[in-house]
Amino acid sequence: MRSLAPVHRYLLKYKWLFITGAVFVGLANVFQVYAPGFIGDMIDTVSVNADELKQNKDAALAQSVFRQLLIYALLFMAFTGIRAVFMFFMRQTIIVMSRRIEFDQKNELFQHYERLTPAFFKRNNTGDLMSRVAEDVGRVRQYVGPAIMYFLNLVFNFIFAIWMMLSINPTLTAYVLIPLPLLSISIYFVNSIINRRSEHIQAQLSTLTSIAQESFSGIRVIQAYAREKTTVAFFDKECDDYKEKSLSLARVDAMFQPLMVLLIGASVLLTIFVGGWQVIEGELSPGNLAEFIFYVNMLTWPVTSLGWVVSIIQRAAASQKRITEFLEIKPDIENEDYPPHQPAGSIRFEHVSFTYPDTGVEALRDVSFQLKKGEKMAIIGRTGSGKTTIADLLFRLYDPTEGVIYFDEIPASRIPLHDLRKGVSAVPQDVFLFSDTIQNNIAFGNPHATREQVEQCAKYASVHDEIMRFPNGYETVVGERGVTLSGGQKQRISMARAFLKDSPVIILDDALSAVDADTEHTIIGNMRQYLEDKTAIIITHRVFNLMQFDRIIVLHEHAIAEQGTHAELMAGKGLYYNLFLSQEKASDTKLV
Ligand SMILES: Nc1ncnc2c1ncn2[C@@H]1O[C@H](COP(=O)(O)OP(=O)(O)OP(=O)(O)O)[C@@H](O)[C@H]1O
Ligand SMILES: [Mg+2]
Repeated sequence: MRSLAPVHRYLLKYKWLFITGAVFVGLANVFQVYAPGFIGDMIDTVSVNADELKQNKDAALAQSVFRQLLIYALLFMAFTGIRAVFMFFMRQTIIVMSRRIEFDQKNELFQHYERLTPAFFKRNNTGDLMSRVAEDVGRVRQYVGPAIMYFLNLVFNFIFAIWMMLSINPTLTAYVLIPLPLLSISIYFVNSIINRRSEHIQAQLSTLTSIAQESFSGIRVIQAYAREKTTVAFFDKECDDYKEKSLSLARVDAMFQPLMVLLIGASVLLTIFVGGWQVIEGELSPGNLAEFIFYVNMLTWPVTSLGWVVSIIQRAAASQKRITEFLEIKPDIENEDYPPHQPAGSIRFEHVSFTYPDTGVEALRDVSFQLKKGEKMAIIGRTGSGKTTIADLLFRLYDPTEGVIYFDEIPASRIPLHDLRKGVSAVPQDVFLFSDTIQNNIAFGNPHATREQVEQCAKYASVHDEIMRFPNGYETVVGERGVTLSGGQKQRISMARAFLKDSPVIILDDALSAVDADTEHTIIGNMRQYLEDKTAIIITHRVFNLMQFDRIIVLHEHAIAEQGTHAELMAGKGLYYNLFLSQEKASDTKLV
């Protein structure tokens, strides 16, 4: 129960819905509990007058009995109708409240996710994150909605029905109540079995879904390696497991219903048996007996729901615990209230080292460099040397393990995160486009941009002409169901997006890896104009001799091996020089 404490905060928020809901539950029960009295009255009226009517055929008496019965019947119907109206309002308040809480909680979780760093998303798989937003929140809703509603109903129902029964006949009440705890306990047990098995089914279903999802995304690889049969067989096996688990649930379910009918039947039988005896002895009227049968039936539902409510509460507590676990994770990047600062463009790395927290892989060692506003720098290095890590540190996806990064001589950790990220635009190495139009993908960082601005940036990225060749131009939908773009096109659209953000600092992480040398020439030509007054960091495997870099750093095994201008590095005859030569040779052979 303690793990559900965070949910009760929400109950407080919607206290008026909750309180009026509770009042409606109470009122519905008042009308429910008085209704059987009229049935009892009807039976008693008939049984008192039956003999008299049979012998005398008194028309006047018959009419008055009939009128009496009609009044009771109408009253019964009216009470039942009013009860139905209150029940409607009870659902309109409590269930509506639970939906609002669900809405709030989903938003809270999603907002929290959005603040967490990539490290968190590496640690937790997408399926798990999704299931917390969807399933766990849904289970908590079951608690604040149906469970609370039925529990309140149960309490009122119990108090009122037992009150009425005691006022009619305490002995009979005691007899009738005997089988009910048994009913409640057995329902609780069966329900736990059902829940456990449902859980297994749920887990198996998510396995099935991820297998399907993965094989659809990887269909090209599967088909290229002719592994369709194996994949199908694997899926088949998991499906079979799912079927077995579903059947085992169905078996318990099938037992559950008859068990309930049996136990409820036992209660009713006991009432008729003991009550009937009392009628014969003259201690109870036939009408009261009928009323009792009503009450027993009335009690069986709350008693049944008790087991159900308890198991919902248990599940909700487990779910809320998982939700709270996530909400308590602090973002790795602290963002305190520092005065706003828009980076102007000068950057300094001071003895920056970085080790990835989860794997303990040292990705950067003692990296220092300085860039003034408007300067251009290239980072060159073998794969795995730490280039992308520099980019990630720059816009604070991670904080350095040692050393400091300065923007305009202010440590990055003292600049509000939002300002810092507005000031740095990045073209990531692994391009990501949303399932949306090209226009919206480019305008992602600047939704109010005009079509002209979007086109201008597409021109800087040398992708405008290709976009115009699509039948729908900028309105072409990309992503899962849209047109599939080539790797190079995606890269350049991603570049156009970064250009449109128009930040003083821009980082291109291997942004030209998927284009050929000619296109590369064109792109660099177009880009140069755009980069004029920007501080630019260009990460690459290849040596560019087209662009004048103010500084080139060569990363080797996570540290800076060489640093200088093209001429200086060539004169040094080190790594850079060798790389340049081997590249020249490669392009010569290609040309031949
Ligand atoms: N999220 C991560 N968690 C743990 N280790 C990582 C992570 N990302 C990268 N690494 C490791 O850090 C080192 C540097 O990686 P980085 O991505 O910076 O290399 P890179 O120079 O960009 O390589 P490439 O040219 O292939 O893109 C590598 O050894 C890599 O295995
Ligand atoms: Mg990289």
